[in-house]
Amino acid sequence: TAPIRIAPSILSADFAKLGEEVRAIDAAGADWIHCDVMDGHFVPNISFGPDVLKAIRPHTAKFFDVHLMIAPVDPYVEAFAKAGADLISFHVEAGAHSHRTVQAIKAQGKQAGIVLNPGTPESAIEPLLGDLDLILLMSVNPGFGGQSFICSVVEKIARVRALIGERPIALEVDGGITPETAPLAVKAGADVLVAGSAAFKGGPANYAANIAAIRKAA
Ligand code: DX5
Ligand code: ZN
Repeated sequence: TAPIRIAPSILSADFAKLGEEVRAIDAAGADWIHCDVMDGHFVPNISFGPDVLKAIRPHTAKFFDVHLMIAPVDPYVEAFAKAGADLISFHVEAGAHSHRTVQAIKAQGKQAGIVLNPGTPESAIEPLLGDLDLILLMSVNPGFGGQSFICSVVEKIARVRALIGERPIALEVDGGITPETAPLAVKAGADVLVAGSAAFKGGPANYAANIAAIRKAA
């Protein structure tokens, strides 16, 4: 089995010093950098856009895992690709043409991921399995960091792991991941864990211990 990757979400970083924060979380052992993009329309909060991504890109060589919580998606794919995304994921609920969006991401030479809200059944993405690099299952309703893990998602993780079968698709879980919930997600089949508040809690002096605690529990 693949090693578990930890993807700290910079949504929980100090936005006043984002470059420093990204360097600190990189040095603390982050595998990927998870970038939560919110538009105040698809989700009830606004975070940051491609220019911020571009500004932090020189501060780390780590993989940029860009989670778009926006609708529409297609008009912005090129901007996020050019800003330095390595993988772009978008919500299946965000539009009627998911397959087209996956192709648009691939046309930019980037990995493509699709995201399911807690209430969306996995059947929605079955036809896309052959084209995906990653599936992201939300374990909170997207929009805010610091919410509690929705336990009913654990069964969906297991079902999606079975759907993936032998395909080289990463299975990521996002929302409420802590040392307590991480093992539930991993046992069910997740191999990438997003952690916002649990990774960034206590400031830079604690980042390495925070990440290590999640990794150890997982
Ligand atoms: C939720 C975001 C998550 C979230 C994770 O809308 O997609 O990435 O910020 O934060 P925690 O780990 O605090 O739930
Ligand atoms: Zn996210």
